[in-house]
Amino acid sequence: MKAKPEPPPTPAPPSEIDFADASVSLRYDDVFQWTRPNEVSDVRWRDGAYEFVCFNGVVLRVSVLAAGIFRLRYSPDGVFQPDFSYAVAPAFEPEKVVVRLEERDDEYLLDSGALQVVVSKADLSVKFYDSDDRTLCEDEAGFSAKRSILKGWCELRMEKKCHKKEVFFGLGDKACGTNLAGKKFENWCSDSYAFGRETDPLYRAVPFYYALNQGVAYGIFFDNSFRTHFDFDSEETGSTSFYAEGGELNYYFLHGPNLDDVARSYARLTGTHELPPRWALGYHQCRWSYHPDSHVREIAAAFRERQIPCDAIYLDIDYMDGYRCFTWDSKAFPDPKALVDDLREMGFQTVTMIDPGIKEDPNYAVYRDGLEQNRFLRTADGVVAKAPVWPGFCAFPDFTNPEVRTWWGELYENQYNDIGIAGFWNDMNEPAVFHVHHKTLPDNVMHEHDGLPCSHRKAHNIYGQQMNRASWEGFRTLQPEKRPFLLSRASFSGGQRFSAIWTGDNCSDWEHLQIANIQCQRLAISGFSFCGTDIGGFAGNAEGELFIRWLQLGVFHPLMRVHSIGKHSAGDGLPADEAELTDPALHVSDQEPWSFGEKWTDLAKKAIELRYCLLPCLYTAIWLHTLDGSPVLRHLAFADAQDPKLWDVERDFLFGEHILVSPVVQPKVQRQGVYLPKGNWYYFWTGQSGSGELFVNVMPDQIPFFVREGAVLPVYPIHQHTGIPVDELTLYVYYKNGLETSHLYEDAGEGYAHQEGVFSLKIFETEGKNGTFSLRQRKEGEYQPIYGKVKIYLVGFPTFVKKCAADGAEIPIKEIKLRERSLYTLTLNPDFEKVEWEG
Ligand code: GLC
Repeated sequence: MKAKPEPPPTPAPPSEIDFADASVSLRYDDVFQWTRPNEVSDVRWRDGAYEFVCFNGVVLRVSVLAAGIFRLRYSPDGVFQPDFSYAVAPAFEPEKVVVRLEERDDEYLLDSGALQVVVSKADLSVKFYDSDDRTLCEDEAGFSAKRSILKGWCELRMEKKCHKKEVFFGLGDKACGTNLAGKKFENWCSDSYAFGRETDPLYRAVPFYYALNQGVAYGIFFDNSFRTHFDFDSEETGSTSFYAEGGELNYYFLHGPNLDDVARSYARLTGTHELPPRWALGYHQCRWSYHPDSHVREIAAAFRERQIPCDAIYLDIDYMDGYRCFTWDSKAFPDPKALVDDLREMGFQTVTMIDPGIKEDPNYAVYRDGLEQNRFLRTADGVVAKAPVWPGFCAFPDFTNPEVRTWWGELYENQYNDIGIAGFWNDMNEPAVFHVHHKTLPDNVMHEHDGLPCSHRKAHNIYGQQMNRASWEGFRTLQPEKRPFLLSRASFSGGQRFSAIWTGDNCSDWEHLQIANIQCQRLAISGFSFCGTDIGGFAGNAEGELFIRWLQLGVFHPLMRVHSIGKHSAGDGLPADEAELTDPALHVSDQEPWSFGEKWTDLAKKAIELRYCLLPCLYTAIWLHTLDGSPVLRHLAFADAQDPKLWDVERDFLFGEHILVSPVVQPKVQRQGVYLPKGNWYYFWTGQSGSGELFVNVMPDQIPFFVREGAVLPVYPIHQHTGIPVDELTLYVYYKNGLETSHLYEDAGEGYAHQEGVFSLKIFETEGKNGTFSLRQRKEGEYQPIYGKVKIYLVGFPTFVKKCAADGAEIPIKEIKLRERSLYTLTLNPDFEKVEWEG
């Protein structure tokens, strides 16, 4: 190493009074001071990281956690905060990576092989390179920090160069177009009733984005739970920036070069969903509220009478006694266990809603215990913080306290263990409160924060995530043999480990169908693959065509649930403007599959049946996600990031391994243009193949979707709920001149035996060459699905099939003549190893 450079003259600290900050009270003018790094004076190795120290005390710590994961932490004054994260998965283990430090004239180089970072000696700015010497990402102004007398370090900022055609994805549930370039955003979990395309922030905070610079991808995860801000060159100054209103500038750089690599690194760092119980992937019916129990029974019976598949029915807040969580309205639900048992008999699981707000009522056991055991949040002055939600004034458990989490988990015992409620629905956990302006708890509410006490400014964004954690851990303790199902409105990065997500209170209109499509794609690539929307729209009245197109899109959303406002009794608790919007008189129309007349009922039934047929694809996609973090839904750019025509696609997306969905999101569509990524794709409904730009005729009962050539698509017969064992598997095998691999994962659909090897994984390899085509099947795992036969359809074979052999023996095949070409079908024992077709 070279000798230390001479210290530069110490610059006068720039200080200013910033009257523009609305949070500064005029009586107590705050004084702000900015700090930026100056010249690097020292480099040292400390606690597993390289520390670059500036003359003015700014320090950058760089650690290499895996081949493609670098972590950068900045301290404006040399003091780092305790290293703690609710986002990073406890299971994440850094890898041993060989890193070389080299000092050059003007910079230091940290070389980890595939990824290199260069730190400038002049101002601590950094540049990331890959092994081909491509600059992936470089600082513009780099790090700066603002401190104030009132809030301490209150703006921790990073500014990077933005390239002309750089594309940005991710950031959770933002409702705008998929490419984030040219826009700016805020992350602050917010109750956003009837939000719109430009509403920001929304219910969740996911400070993680992807960048695609000339087809090469990287990701940035800013692990900071304060209110964060992201600007993707909205002012066209050629820079991207992000900052937090407190805490630490602590970010992870996730190397691509493919978007899938970034998704997997993010999942590795923050975790994935577990495999859900299979019923949770069926169709769910919800309403605010199905009430009383006789109405719930009528709904259940109507599904079975009409032979419309369904697996779950939800009870919204009206099942409770005056919105007191963990209680029942004894008039409307006199015998909840009998109801839940009867529904289960019919193949329905029951899901109930729980809110975090606990009604202030000395006669209510949860409130009384919570007070006695000091379970609730308090203000900095030590009084229990209370605010109005549905039941009036409420106290709020401090889910950042491990003892409170255990207490909360135990509260589910009666519903989960005794009554048999199968899943739960955590709502209002931003946390939402009925205050027109603040909509949440005030900043001076204090949280235990697992031993690092802090104000609500820091804990707000993780409140919902930690509520979900408390519930999830409770379920795991109460019934360790059962896979929990938890659905939540609010969450934060890493929250996918505890719950599925729905996108909140949307509206029944075509724009919201488009938003639903974008939000789920975005949530899935931001870690939350298990997501869905209120199908048909929550507020307002849907009409038949909208409802059907939404249901059809929902077939490809991991959570497929219809929900709407409808008949309820809660308008009173709301602030005047919301009370008017949610007035039940304005939202009377029903939203069951049969609510729009016979013509639409048939189409709804077909859409839901398609969901049950495609369950093996969905289950396999979720299994793959739990294995390596591959999102279940992906933006089309994931198929070929080099193709600029895909960068701004909003409507069409990838589902699982080999499906491309092109949903209908406008009324009266009869033909739809699609741009397909490289390779040939087959239109599922006709078996015709094509590539590039093409048009398809759109039928009212069909959602357009394509299957990649060479793929094997597993399909189940229509069944009324997932508890019914399927007696046949159909494999659609799509011809390709070349090789392709597909998977089918199956297990008991419940419990954890799959972790001990009781699963069935089928690996299909197809190969087409010289007028022949073959399908090989390899099997892993000890689970034996009960179906005794497999039907195979060969689609797209280019000539007439003359011969077909299974495991070496010639077998008869049947030709089905379609308009354009033939399908070949045969039936085999599920354990076949190889099928060959010859033209
Ligand atoms: C919130 C939820 C909604 C629910 C309602 C009543 O608005 O987002 O889904 O129906 O509260 O509980």
